[in-house]
Amino acid sequence: MFDLDRIRCETFVEQVEFRPELASTNSLALELSAAVGLRTPLLVLAEKQTAGRGRGTNRWWSGDGALMFSLVVDSSGMAGMELSVERRPQISLATGLAVREALAQVLPAAGLGLKWPNDVYLNSRKVCGILTEVPHRAPHRSVIGIGVNVNNPSAMAPSEVRGLAVSLRDVSGREHDLTDVLVRLLRQIETELSLLARDDLDLPGRWRPYCILQGRIVSLTAGSRVTTGLCAGIDAKGALLLHTEAGPQRFFGGTVTFAS
Ligand code: BTN
Repeated sequence: MFDLDRIRCETFVEQVEFRPELASTNSLALELSAAVGLRTPLLVLAEKQTAGRGRGTNRWWSGDGALMFSLVVDSSGMAGMELSVERRPQISLATGLAVREALAQVLPAAGLGLKWPNDVYLNSRKVCGILTEVPHRAPHRSVIGIGVNVNNPSAMAPSEVRGLAVSLRDVSGREHDLTDVLVRLLRQIETELSLLARDDLDLPGRWRPYCILQGRIVSLTAGSRVTTGLCAGIDAKGALLLHTEAGPQRFFGGTVTFAS
């Protein structure tokens, strides 16, 4: 199903760990991230994922035909790429930009948007989720987990997800070559992470045209605190900007819903 040679030849990944079936590509990537002799970027790729993890305690629906993978990237092991600790919060935002760009190559006419902090939307439904984690035993590395609904029809999703998710196939009406989509994603991720490492990404400017929250009244939930305000996009550090009754506020984490 995957052309692993093509992935090795045409992308920046140095090592590929492919499994036909896996609980979670992020969990294996976290395990492997401290291995002696590991070459990064490491790609962990599975055809089937039985316990995909989302943000917080959420699970990730990994239907047959979906693309599920994780990348282990080093803070200093890649030529031209220094992803220092202070850039960590921006890694998933840069990855979101990369996913949007790559999917726009596959479906040029589609309505692709970004929902802070780490979701990519297609025609107002979620097509991709990103889960970035820091391995306890290798804190100088980051694991970037990406799930893209490609050939998995959203009609097959569990009922709680069905109306919220969409796949490329739902929109295009055809099967997509998973290797081809993956190669495009990896190339774009390399580009965006390199820009981030060089401080050349212009997150606010690049994010603005696709931000589905911009100009909307939204509620941000962080722990037990809910803050409502008008979204003014994101800043250079990747924080969400809300104009609230108490004045402008910045947020580095939380879950956002539309208030109106
Ligand atoms: C979210 O939207 O909450 C993030 C979802 C991230 C899902 C991907 S699928 C590949 C990788 N492995 C996992 O267990 N999760 C991520």
